[in-house]
Amino acid sequence: AKDPVRVLVTGAAGQIGYALVPMIARGIMLGADQPVILHMLDIPPAAEALNGVKMELVDAAFPLLKGVVATTDAVEACTGVNVAVMVGGFPRKEGMERKDVMSKNVSIYKSQASALEKHAAANCKVLVVANPANTNALILKEFAPSIPEKNITCLTRLDHNRALGQISERLNVQVSDVKNVIIWGNHSSTQYPDVNHASVKTPAGEKPVRELVADDEWLNSEFITTVQQRGAAIIKARKFSSALSAASSACDHIRDWVLGTPEGTWVSMGVYSDGSYNVPSGLIYSFPVTCKNGEWSIVQGLSIDELSRKKLDLTAQELSEEKALAYSCLS
Ligand code: NAI
Repeated sequence: AKDPVRVLVTGAAGQIGYALVPMIARGIMLGADQPVILHMLDIPPAAEALNGVKMELVDAAFPLLKGVVATTDAVEACTGVNVAVMVGGFPRKEGMERKDVMSKNVSIYKSQASALEKHAAANCKVLVVANPANTNALILKEFAPSIPEKNITCLTRLDHNRALGQISERLNVQVSDVKNVIIWGNHSSTQYPDVNHASVKTPAGEKPVRELVADDEWLNSEFITTVQQRGAAIIKARKFSSALSAASSACDHIRDWVLGTPEGTWVSMGVYSDGSYNVPSGLIYSFPVTCKNGEWSIVQGLSIDELSRKKLDLTAQELSEEKALAYSCLS
């Protein structure tokens, strides 16, 4: 039998946490033959709720779940973890300035970076979900210098999956037959959902999405804004932000990273930019990646047309500004 993998979920008493921990305990993140030990962190005001989640995990009698650590102590939570899913953060509340929210999250991610760096297992893989996801991941990277930068990522897989979902609905095809959309840039409304290299499996072979949809006007405007604004549409409908889709996409992100992407398929991940596609290096930016042997690599050589170039640059610009704002909170 395999040794259990220790998976940390921060903010585990929150809505995404509540959807995510049963998925992990069921084997959806790491595979149906991989035992897990869940580490759950939240803050003292949520300690009682966190304990309730622990009680439900016990009650669900998951065969793969070999242990649960539920704590408000970051060091205890981070000790020995192989995978860290960072969902905890400070949400923007009405009337708050952007800088105030950034400042709260910078201090959270700075201190959790240190706890992970000192106490996590070697080669721990980190996924930041909490917003501003890209910049929180960047702060975590800066304050955990001994964790390889390749191990620190942020979630844009939800946006990627939303793009697949929109194409599947538009063409009335199975979502599993659509592949290779790309989310470029920030997990925010400046992200660029790109279908220029996406394709659909049809009885007549693989066809480009551009050819099947044929309506460039829809692809270049409504499709893009629908994906960019989907988070807001969910809040409007549900009065709460996306949780089951965020949790499911976080599982997809880690599963593909650890177990690999299928041949001929790429996914979107927020990763530390190496300057590919002329995206400034030193930002956590969403790129198309393939994964093999537990490592991602950015898909190279895709053609970028003029409209796309502008959109790649615009979202990079926003990330540079967020980075500057985050740094101004440090001093
Ligand atoms: P929530 O408010 O229900 O849960 C957040 C939890 O984090 C709370 O239990 C809170 O007590 C905890 N928390 C706060 N500070 C903490 C700290 N320092 N350490 C540990 N835990 C802490 O929020 P929800 O809906 O679960 O969303 C979580 C985050 O995920 C938000 O920042 C949200 O904006 C983000 N998000 C990101 C998505 C993505 O695609 N990247 C998609 C959806 C949400």
